[in-house]
Amino acid sequence: MPDNTRRARDEAFWQTFADRYDVQPGPINLENGYFGRMSRTVVEEYQRNIELINNSNSVYVRQRFEQHDSLEIRAQLAELIGVRAQSVAFTCNATAALQSLIRNYNLLRPGDQVLISDLEYDTVKSAMRWLAGSRGVEVVEIGHAHPASFDGLLATYREAFIRHPNLKLMALTHVTHRTGLVMPVQAIAALAKEHGVDIILDGAHALGQIDFDLEALGIAFAGYNLHKWIGSPLTLGFLYVAPQRLADIDPDMAEAHFPVTDIRSRTPYSTPNFPALMTLPLVFEEHRALGGAPAKGARLNHLRDLWVKAVRNLPGIEVMTPDDPRLYCGITSMRFTRHPDQQVLVERLLNEFNLFTVARNGSACGPCIRITPGLTTTAADMQRLIVALNELR
Ligand SMILES: Cc1ncc(COP(=O)(O)O)c(C=O)c1O
Repeated sequence: MPDNTRRARDEAFWQTFADRYDVQPGPINLENGYFGRMSRTVVEEYQRNIELINNSNSVYVRQRFEQHDSLEIRAQLAELIGVRAQSVAFTCNATAALQSLIRNYNLLRPGDQVLISDLEYDTVKSAMRWLAGSRGVEVVEIGHAHPASFDGLLATYREAFIRHPNLKLMALTHVTHRTGLVMPVQAIAALAKEHGVDIILDGAHALGQIDFDLEALGIAFAGYNLHKWIGSPLTLGFLYVAPQRLADIDPDMAEAHFPVTDIRSRTPYSTPNFPALMTLPLVFEEHRALGGAPAKGARLNHLRDLWVKAVRNLPGIEVMTPDDPRLYCGITSMRFTRHPDQQVLVERLLNEFNLFTVARNGSACGPCIRITPGLTTTAADMQRLIVALNELR
């Protein structure tokens, strides 16, 4: 058994890890998908940086941060994800990164087609729909079959590419926020390439939670945040553009600070959260010290497997996310099949069992309840969930 898989089951290890976090008493949080928790040491470092910036004001920023430290922090980010520093630029979240890419992708012509699926994030869907008015393109919308399978997902995209020969651009979500389904990005990217379709990848839930090699995925354009599974302070994200494709993304509409050959010209120039950025070296160090995405992912998958294995075959429960290890991660959704309104069940999980979850609508497979353990979640929390699901079904 690989080390990460063995350690994922070691409750004593994870208890020691959880002790590094301050957790307010209250419901058991199974909605860790919204944003991540910072460790106590990261919070302390962040507070120190807030004081430092507040005390020095623009002096440190103008004299050191802009010319030196920000580049060093970007180099550390690039190293963490295994790409060249010149291919990433910080943004304040994944949304800003993705919207810059969608808005400034300059290869669309009137009459071209762009593609989205039911599993994209709502703001990504609406940004792609905005292209219809601004670029005169047709927006093709597809729904994914349920239950999802590796071959089925590929077949859906293959069929869409064949049926819509004018497709030039598509959005793809690496880990969908609706059901936690992990898309076979590398295989879809290879297929898209054959059909001349570019992909803008939404990696908001992927970074830090699942292990991947961005360059090997064959993706030229992607947007990420650092405040979900990497554990940074809020307000941090970045965009990635493969260096050979930079010319295909226009500079930001108000850009006047960086040369067109500099990827930073592809983001709005504005005052960032300096203390948050300055905290990143410690965030990266802690992420790496734990074992990075392979270690975090193995733990989250283990917690997910505990509850999914216990309830998958029970009448009255449908787990929406498949068990193919290529297609799932820690986030998984389920539905109470005998109850019409999943939101009512979310409330009962909270009021009767002290379990905090969230309802998700909008997938072609229907409304569901999203269950997202975090790194401070325990196996005992999962047992409590199993009891609750059993009683409520
Ligand atoms: C799949 C997906 N994409 C994009 C986003 C937006 O991320 P951010 O809030 O960092 O802009 C989210 C946030 O939950 C998400 O789940």
